[in-house]
Amino acid sequence: MKRLLAVLALLLPAAAEAGHELENRDLRNGQVLYKEHCASCHGAELEGQPNWRRIDKDGLLPAPPHDRTGHTWHHDNRLLFDYTKLGGKALMEARGIAGFKSGMEGFGDALADDEIWDILAFIRSTWPERIKRIQASRNPPHDR
Ligand code: HEC
Repeated sequence: MKRLLAVLALLLPAAAEAGHELENRDLRNGQVLYKEHCASCHGAELEGQPNWRRIDKDGLLPAPPHDRTGHTWHHDNRLLFDYTKLGGKALMEARGIAGFKSGMEGFGDALADDEIWDILAFIRSTWPERIKRIQASRNPPHDR
């Protein structure tokens, strides 16, 4: 029994962290970085580009909004992080989908991991409580 508990304790940190990556972040920093790196496509007010659901003539999607009208909050933290760090094409490849045409490059070279989490936390901070709760429920279960 003791040994089992020790093994569980080893596994716990990752599990306990799940879903909490967006907490206690620097929202001001996130806002500044959002303006600098994301607003040109996703909009100063997180409103996205016009007709963002329609693929354009080059086979690319316009940038979707990050506010409540978009689908950012449909995704768990990990997907949002990976999408931002890797970009659409590499993320899809990592998840087994080849040939996805993405209008978004990865920010892995431009931004540190903590900076990406700050930006995502800033985006989340603009959502109403109900949407925050739904998004949180997309994350893997955790013990808090
Ligand atoms: C050059 C334009 C461009 C920039 C700059 C950009 N994006 Fe995107 N983003 C897109 C497009 C276009 C999509 C739609 C899917 C695709 O083409 O990959 C997208 C999709 C996403 C998605 C997945 C869809 C969703 O709503 O969840 C996330 C998350 C995301 N972007 C976050 C960011 C963040 C955070 C930044 C700033 C660090 C950023 N993007 C900067 C163009 C951009």
